[in-house]
Amino acid sequence: MKTLILENTIENIEEAAGILRNGGLVAFPTETVYGLGANGLDGKAVNKVFAAKNRPADNPMILHVSDIDDVYEIAEDVCEDAKKLMHAFWPGPMTVVMKRKSHIPDETTGGLNTVGIRLPDDETARELIRRAGVPVAAPSANLSGKPSPTMAKHVIKDMDGRIDAILCGRDCEIGIESTVVLAVDDNPIILRPGKITAADMEKVLGKKVEMDPTLDMKKPKDESEDFQPLAPGQKYRHYAPDADMIVYEGAEEDVLKEIEKEKARLEGEGKKVGVILFGTYNFEDAARELFAKLREMDEEGVEFILAGAVASEGLGFAVMNRMMKSAGYNIIKL
Ligand code: TXA
Ligand code: MG
Repeated sequence: MKTLILENTIENIEEAAGILRNGGLVAFPTETVYGLGANGLDGKAVNKVFAAKNRPADNPMILHVSDIDDVYEIAEDVCEDAKKLMHAFWPGPMTVVMKRKSHIPDETTGGLNTVGIRLPDDETARELIRRAGVPVAAPSANLSGKPSPTMAKHVIKDMDGRIDAILCGRDCEIGIESTVVLAVDDNPIILRPGKITAADMEKVLGKKVEMDPTLDMKKPKDESEDFQPLAPGQKYRHYAPDADMIVYEGAEEDVLKEIEKEKARLEGEGKKVGVILFGTYNFEDAARELFAKLREMDEEGVEFILAGAVASEGLGFAVMNRMMKSAGYNIIKL
C-alpha cells in the first residue's frame, strides 16, 4: 500500500479527514504520542488498525472526540465523577472509561461493555477529528510491542506501506500516553498512569482515586489467570527495545558509578552499550524523551541499555511504569 506522507496544512487535514470517513487509516499527532486513527463506528476500519499494528484483538481502542458534547453520543450513564474529570482535564492527556452505548462496534471496545474516550489538546488532532465527523478510534501509531511514536519519523518507520496516510506534526510534548481512568458509578480507578496523576484527580473530586493493583511495578505472571489488569493493554510486553535493558535504582551517585562500571565491563566484552540517565526528579524530560531514546538506540544497534530510575512519584510513576515494561521488569536496587 502507498502511504501518503502529509505535511500539517489545513488542506491535508481535510484530505486526511476524508480518508477516515471512507474507512481508511490515518496516523496523526497528539500531545501525548502519535495515534493511528480509524472511524471508531466502523468495525471493518477498526479491524484494519489491528492488522496494521499486529495488535491483539482483545485490546480495546480509545475513541477520540473533538467536543465534550460528543461523549453523550457514545457513552451511557455518565457519572458525576466522569463529568468533573472531563471538565477539569480536557482537552488533555486523560482517557475516561465509561459505560458504552450499544451501537459502538465490538471491534472498538474489544467486546467490553465500557469505552475509553479522550479529547486531545493538540490542535491538529482536534481539527482532524472535528472534520472527520466521527469518533476516531486511535491506539498509539507503533507496531505492537514497540515504543510509542513521539515524532513523525517514528511513525514513518513503523507504518509506511501499512496505512493510508501519515499526518506529520510536531514532536509530542508529553511523550507518554494518556492517563486512563475508569469512571463508572462514581468509583474512579486509574488503569494506566500518565501525566495527570491520582493526586491531580483527587483535588478535583475531593475523594480517593484508587490504582489498579496490577500497576505495582512487579513482573506480571503473563500466563497466569491471577494477572488480569482492568486495561487489557497493560498485560502485553510493551515499549520493548531490541536491546536488553536494565534499570538501576538508588542514590544518584551510586547509580552513576554502577552504570559506569557495568558499561566498562560490557564494552570490554565488545558489546555496544547505551546509557539513559535523566536524573531522579527530571520527570518531564524523562517522559518526553524516553521512547525516542529507546528507538534511537535500536537504530544504532545498541545491545545493552543501562538506565537510571526516576523517582516513582507524580509523573515519575508513569515514567517508571513504561521503563519497567521496556526493561521486562529487570531492575537492580542499589
Ligand atoms: O495518549 C493516548 O492515550 C494515545 C493517543 C493516541 O491518544 N493512545 C493510546 O492508545 O495510548 P493505546 O491503544 O495504545 O492504549 C489504550 C489503553 C490500552 O491499555 C487499553 O487496554 C486501555 O487503554 N483501554 C481502552 N479502552 C478501555 C476500556 N474500555 N476498558 C479498559 N481499558 C481500556
Ligand atoms: Mg499503545
